Amino acid sequence: MTTAKIRQMKASGEKIAMLTSYDYTLTSLIDDAVDMILVGDSASNVVCGNSYTLPITVDEMIFLARGVVRGAKHALVVVDMPFGSYQVSEEDAVRNAIRIIKESGAEAVKIEGGEEILPAIQHIIQAGIPVCGHLGLTPQSVNQFGGYGLRAKEEAEAEKLLHDAQLLDQAGCFCIVLEKIPAALAARVAQSVHCPVIGIGAGSATDGQVLVLHDMLGMNEGFKPKFLRHFAHLAQDIRQAAAAYSQAVKDSSFPNQEESY
Ligand code: KIV
Repeated sequence: MTTAKIRQMKASGEKIAMLTSYDYTLTSLIDDAVDMILVGDSASNVVCGNSYTLPITVDEMIFLARGVVRGAKHALVVVDMPFGSYQVSEEDAVRNAIRIIKESGAEAVKIEGGEEILPAIQHIIQAGIPVCGHLGLTPQSVNQFGGYGLRAKEEAEAEKLLHDAQLLDQAGCFCIVLEKIPAALAARVAQSVHCPVIGIGAGSATDGQVLVLHDMLGMNEGFKPKFLRHFAHLAQDIRQAAAAYSQAVKDSSFPNQEESY
C-alpha cells in the first residue's frame, strides 16, 4: 500500500479502512484486512495506562512502531508525532519526523492541528515524508478544549475546521483524520478537499474510517462513546481464558501428559 493508492481509493470511491495497532502480533493479524495502520499516540492510554496522550515520547513511539512495521506486510503504516515533537520549531518537527521514519521504517507521520502548525507540516512534506493531518477533536489539546466532547458544533469553529482542512490539502497532506465532529460538517470537508478524509466519530460520508483497535475489539469495556462499535468482545474472552488457565494450574490439570516432555 502506498500513499498514491490511498489517494486513488478516494478517486475511485473505494472506502479506506484504518485501525490503530501498537505491536507486531496484533498487526500481523489485522494487516491483510486494512489499508492503513496507525501507530497512534493513543498508545499512551491503551499500552501505557495514562489518562492522556500527552506523556508519550518520540522514543516510545519509535519502539512501538518498529514492531508494527515488522508485522505490516500489506498496510501503509502511519505513526503519530507525539505532543511536543513538532510544536517547538519547524526544524525540530522535521528532525523528529525523520527520526520516526528512519528508525521505525514506517511510511508516514500524522500530526494534530491546522493553520497553527502548517509551517511544520510543509517542512516535513518538503523533506519527503508523507503527512496525515488530524482535525476536530485533537486529544493532544485536551487541556485547551477542557475535555473530549464533540468539536466544531458552532459555525465559527466549523468554518475554521473547513479552512484548516483546505490548507492541509493544499500543503500536500495525503489524507486527513477528522475526529468527533458533526457528520454533516465531515461530509462538507470530504467534498471540498482532494485528499481522502478518514473519520472517527465523524459519520459515514468520509472517504474512510479509523478506530482504536483495542476499543473495536471490545477490550476496553469502560469506554463506549456513541461512535464506537464493538466488532468483538475480547475482554470477556480474555478474562475467561485467564480464569480457566488459573483453575487448570491450581487443580493440576495443566500441563497434562501430552503437554509434558
Ligand atoms: O492516536 C490515535 O489513536 C488517533 C486516532 C484516534 C485517530 O489519533
